[in-house]
Amino acid sequence: MPKMINLMVACAENRVMGRGTKLPWHIPEDQKFFHDETAGKSIILGRICYQTWPRAREDGRRLVVITSNPSLATDGVQVARSVPEALALAEELPGEIYVNGGERIFEEVLALDRPMRLHLTQVHAVVEGDVFFPEWRHIAWREVSRREGSDANFSYTFLALERVVASDKDEVRRGPV
Ligand SMILES: NC(=O)c1ccc[n+]([C@@H]2O[C@H](COP(=O)([O-])OP(=O)(O)OC[C@H]3O[C@@H](n4cnc5c(N)ncnc54)[C@H](OP(=O)(O)O)[C@@H]3O)[C@@H](O)[C@H]2O)c1
Repeated sequence: MPKMINLMVACAENRVMGRGTKLPWHIPEDQKFFHDETAGKSIILGRICYQTWPRAREDGRRLVVITSNPSLATDGVQVARSVPEALALAEELPGEIYVNGGERIFEEVLALDRPMRLHLTQVHAVVEGDVFFPEWRHIAWREVSRREGSDANFSYTFLALERVVASDKDEVRRGPV
């Protein structure tokens, strides 16, 4: 049985999640949630996400960076050339797998048929940017939790969604026993 994959993302109403190599907003409550949720975890992330996250190696995180540059490997950081290679490495690390993007990595992971939880901060604004979270709403999800938040600039919703897998659909078809 492969491990649960957790995807961590904050995106705007127009699915924007990045501008260049940066986040398109500063939302301290979401930043704190992100750091707390990923502390001590095994994390897969793209090269830009890694290089622009100064605290990535802190708080006991074990990292698998997807890149063509093997020299990025260092203490607590493994490198992989592709998403399947990164998943194979993360499978051997302790705990559930967290995927922190970027765009192509999210796209490839969302296309997999395996257990998945989406930690989605929906930022209730249309935001300018050029990096997008791929469309996720065509996939069947079950809402696990929801919490509202806001600050002076944005209102947002913290959602946890779990993918409905084939065996769940069978349960739904069969109905309760
Ligand atoms: N709002 C959020 O929650 C959130 C989450 C994640 C990212 N972001 C934003 O997104 C942007 C960064 O994401 P990004 O998509 O531009 O970059 P990225 O995925 O972090 O990094 C891109 C690099 O990673 C490697 N790579 C990525 N996907 C790959 C794949 N499928 N196969 C092989 N190699 C792959 C390549 O590295 P090499 O060139 O070294 O070979 C590629 O040039 C930033 O703006 C960031 O703030 C936002």
